[in-house]
Amino acid sequence: MIENKTWKNTEPLFSAIEGFLSPEEGGFLFRMAGTCKGMGAIVEIGSWKGRSTVCLAAGARDGIKIYAIDPHSGSSEHKQQMGRIDTLGEFQDNIKKAGVGHKVIPLVKTSELAAEEWQGPIEFLFIDGAHEYELVKQDFELWSPHLIEGGIIAFHDSVDWPGPKQLVRDEIFLKSGYAEAGVVGSITYAKKIKDCGQMQMLGKKWKLFLKYFYDYGRTHQVPGWIRGLGKLMLPRI
Ligand SMILES: C[S@@+](CC[C@H](N)C(=O)[O-])C[C@H]1O[C@@H](n2cnc3c(N)ncnc32)[C@H](O)[C@@H]1O
Repeated sequence: MIENKTWKNTEPLFSAIEGFLSPEEGGFLFRMAGTCKGMGAIVEIGSWKGRSTVCLAAGARDGIKIYAIDPHSGSSEHKQQMGRIDTLGEFQDNIKKAGVGHKVIPLVKTSELAAEEWQGPIEFLFIDGAHEYELVKQDFELWSPHLIEGGIIAFHDSVDWPGPKQLVRDEIFLKSGYAEAGVVGSITYAKKIKDCGQMQMLGKKWKLFLKYFYDYGRTHQVPGWIRGLGKLMLPRI
C-alpha cells in the first residue's frame, strides 16, 4: 500500500513486480503521470504483471483513471520463450498489493478490440504492447488520435527494438505533430502539438542523431571515449 506518493516509496513496490522497465524508466512514468491535470485518461497498452501500471497509478493524482490494456496472454516473443501465458492473476495481485486498485481499470483484451469501444480524451498514452513494426504502428494509429493537444505519448523499447524504433523515427522525430521529444532509458516520449515548426523540427533531427549515436555506442565495440561521449549526451536527448 502506498502511504504518500513519492517515487522513493513507490520504488520498492515497483522492484517487487517482475517486468521489463528499469527504475529510471519507472521513475519517469511516475513523474509524467504526476503532471497529468485530469483533462483525459492515462492509457497503457501492454501491462504484463503491472510494473509500469503501478508507476502510472502511484504517480497520478486521485481521480485520474489508468486504463491498463492487455489480453494477458503475452507478446509473440514471450510465447516463443515460455509457451502458454496468463499474467492476469499476478497483475491483479500486484495492483492490489500496491494499493492502487481504485485507480486502475484493466481492459483484458487486445488494443485493437479496446480501441473499437474507446471514446474519451487521453492525456498520457504509454505504448508497450506488441513490438512488431506493423503492430506498434497500429497502436499509434488507433490511439494517438484520442491524445489531447499538449498530451504526452511514450513508447517503451524504442531505442533498440526495431519496430518501436522505426515508428518513433517516422512518426515522432520526422513529422511535425509532436514536439519536445526526448529519451529516458529505452523510452521515447513527446508532446502532441498542432505543428512544431521548423526550429523544433531541426532540434528533433539533432536529437534523433544523438539517439542513434547512443544506440550505436551501446551495441558496437567502440573506443571508451566514444562510449563516454554517448553517456554524456544521453541526458541531453
Ligand atoms: C513488454 S510487455 C509489457 C511490460 C510492462 N509494461 C511492464 O512494465 O512490465 C508486453 C505486453 O503487451 C501485451 N500485448 C501483446 N499484444 C498486445 C495487444 N495487441 N494489445 C495489448 N497488449 C498486448 C502482452 O500480453 C504483454 O503483457
